[in-house]
Amino acid sequence: MLFSRSGNLAIDLGNTNTLLRDQHHLLLSEPSVLIVDEDSHRIEAVGEQAYAMLEKTHHHLKPIRPLRGGVISDGESAKQMMRALVRKASRPSLLRGFQFLISGVPYDTTPVEKRALRDILDQFSARHTHLVHEPLAAALGMGLNIQEPEGKLVVDIGGGITEVVVISLSGVAAFQSVRVAGDTLDEEIQDYFRREHHLAIGLKTAEQLKIELGCVYEPIASSTIGRQVKGKDLREGIPSTRWVSEAEISRVLDRPFRQIESCIHQSLEACPPELAGDLYRTGMFVTGGHARLKGLAERFHKLFQIPVHVDPQALLSVSKGIAHILNRPAAFRSMLM
Ligand SMILES: Nc1ncnc2c1ncn2[C@@H]1O[C@H](COP(=O)(O)OP(=O)(O)OP(=O)(O)O)[C@@H](O)[C@H]1O
Ligand SMILES: [Mg+2]
Repeated sequence: MLFSRSGNLAIDLGNTNTLLRDQHHLLLSEPSVLIVDEDSHRIEAVGEQAYAMLEKTHHHLKPIRPLRGGVISDGESAKQMMRALVRKASRPSLLRGFQFLISGVPYDTTPVEKRALRDILDQFSARHTHLVHEPLAAALGMGLNIQEPEGKLVVDIGGGITEVVVISLSGVAAFQSVRVAGDTLDEEIQDYFRREHHLAIGLKTAEQLKIELGCVYEPIASSTIGRQVKGKDLREGIPSTRWVSEAEISRVLDRPFRQIESCIHQSLEACPPELAGDLYRTGMFVTGGHARLKGLAERFHKLFQIPVHVDPQALLSVSKGIAHILNRPAAFRSMLM
């Protein structure tokens, strides 16, 4: 039952991770996954607990990732997941209902995809519900002054989508996106093992390899740093191991990273000349989970010849930016949808 609505909530409903914040604190950060019992249709697990069960479930338990390419692909599951996560994160003040609820949405989203997100948010009956474009929120979360006319280039390489925007005067002056991000990189690694090592590995193992050994600049990728990988030998059908080096993983990541670079190139080409001039001074601000990949700053700097700033809190920028807006919604009214 709702009494007075006093809580404010910032939502970053990401392809891979969902983060919830109030104006001051991170309340929850968990994988965007749920496990549903196919017979009873009950949710068996959500977030961290569901992620731990991924690729280990039996046939009655169905793992669901309700987002693909950064947008909602299964509205009903996304709704159930959000309800469970908000309940899990809630403090007593939030349980009284929300005054402001603001959620991020990729810049590259259709009206139908926005509508699907609104449907999910409407279940919380907040007094004011708004959407904000994620790259703008990420820029605020990185502490950039986006209200001034000087152009800022923001690159967000997340789990399902990479978005590149040039921001000026609180708006987007140039934009490009590509559905190449975490999921694609993990699948590339999985395919590579199948093709070159005749080893089947799970997507979680592929992701872990990317996080531990991922490097995107070949000159600094070591061929002696590496580790054993466990999987199933495709010819023998039995458990097996292979040794893989950082240099090998870096060769696998090269092709998807070229696609990401071409996306950055296109947004620079679309950028008005005065703003492009600014970018030589202000540089590029990289955020999202893959900002943390080894060699990323070196690679982008060599190619684009502008300063590259890697966000030290790359998984948090969008949610921090939305929390910043929650503190002064009136000041950011022009950005809220
Ligand atoms: N240290 C790391 N090195 C490389 N990749 C990482 C690291 N930490 C996280 N990742 C990857 O970052 C991705 C998640 O990033 P992020 O949380 O920014 O995505 P998201 O917001 O859920 O997705 P999207 O923005 O596309 O909706 C995952 O694919 C994860 O494997
Ligand atoms: Mg994101």
